[in-house]
Amino acid sequence: MLAQFAASSFLRGYTSSKWVRAVPHGRVEAERNSVAKHGQLGSHAARSYNVYGLVPALMQILDLRQIQSRRLEPLFQEETRHWRDELHWDYRPSVDLIRKFIDSHSLGGYVALENDKPAGYGFYVLEDHKGLIGGLFVSPRESQAPITELLLTEMVGALRATPRLQRVEAQLMPFGTELDPAFLSQYFSLHTRLFMLLPLAEAQLINKPLSSGLRLEPWTDKAFESAARLIQLAYADHVDGEINDQYRSEAGGMKFLRNIVLLPGCGQFLPEASFLVRPATGDRPVGMVLTSTVAEGVGHTTQICVMPGYQGHGIGRLMMESSIKALQRRKYESLSLTVTSANTPAVRMYEHLGFRTIKKFAAGVWQAHTR
Ligand SMILES: CC(C)(COP(=O)(O)OP(=O)(O)OC[C@H]1O[C@@H](n2cnc3c(N)ncnc32)[C@H](O)[C@@H]1OP(=O)(O)O)[C@@H](O)C(=O)NCCC(=O)NCCS
Repeated sequence: MLAQFAASSFLRGYTSSKWVRAVPHGRVEAERNSVAKHGQLGSHAARSYNVYGLVPALMQILDLRQIQSRRLEPLFQEETRHWRDELHWDYRPSVDLIRKFIDSHSLGGYVALENDKPAGYGFYVLEDHKGLIGGLFVSPRESQAPITELLLTEMVGALRATPRLQRVEAQLMPFGTELDPAFLSQYFSLHTRLFMLLPLAEAQLINKPLSSGLRLEPWTDKAFESAARLIQLAYADHVDGEINDQYRSEAGGMKFLRNIVLLPGCGQFLPEASFLVRPATGDRPVGMVLTSTVAEGVGHTTQICVMPGYQGHGIGRLMMESSIKALQRRKYESLSLTVTSANTPAVRMYEHLGFRTIKKFAAGVWQAHTR
């Protein structure tokens, strides 16, 4: 389970001082109109392209740090509608964060303007030696594919120009266009991910009790450290560890948990629908499910994992059923989650519970060659 595609999960917890300025560059092979509109914005701030004639008019690319968020308002409104209509997700809190960071001129990224109107935007953040592309939205009313490629090329170029950057991760929701070609053109490896939804009234519950010797308990913040260790062990040699390198260490697991549990952004953590499974005799959890609220009446499973050695004995299913029942008691209508399509046991478990795939998207990773 990864919850990073929601823009705000990248922004939570960041302060302006943590942002590293990207180096402007110009890798796109495009016809550049260096005279046009540079004026008051400075020499790096604005560029104009006509990408092989695919973009109908001259497209101007601006650094996000040079603009005010209100210029992007039509895009924000459109993007929010797509998240709501296609994914049942209230994207407004994410947009609030994006606005805040744009207006503090501390968000790396670019906006594409066509005839001075915003056609698309994308942003990224830097975390240690890793770049995270947190959002990329191009209006379906525009030439989506070439503008998407242009924005991604600019962002990836800026990230790769950052000293000591080793890795770039991205999980972006496509609305109206495929993002895969743009990622492939930038040498990302891709993993197909599924966005799944369960109308809670249609949940297929078997109500099988937990085997004796195990106990189900509500989530407690006291479990942070042992839960981080559980993440590291459950995802050892797992495809999701290739997608999100936080899963590969206990410190990364802590970071992930802090983002999900303590900081608002990928929805609001819902402790009442989040559980741990522990052996009756021990304190260390062997299973965990975490749930957030992402819109009124809509829950999202942000994490579920079971310790190797305990897998395949019904713990995962029982934890999912416990979350579902907790949400039903609170009159929620649906529960969503994301899963890597290659993670067959998990996909099968969700399908048996009644989840259906409503969108496919890609997780992309670019790794620098280390000598
Ligand atoms: C996915 C995971 C949470 C499932 O938990 P679990 O306790 O192993 O699963 P369960 O024993 O409850 O089995 C649930 C279903 O999956 C199936 N299943 C479990 N392990 C399986 C395996 N190794 N191969 C095939 N199917 C398997 C079971 O047949 C069962 O089917 P059912 O729903 O018809 O009863 C667990 O395997 C895990 O932690 N994996 C690593 C982390 C991970 O992938 N998390 C999910 C990210 S989206």
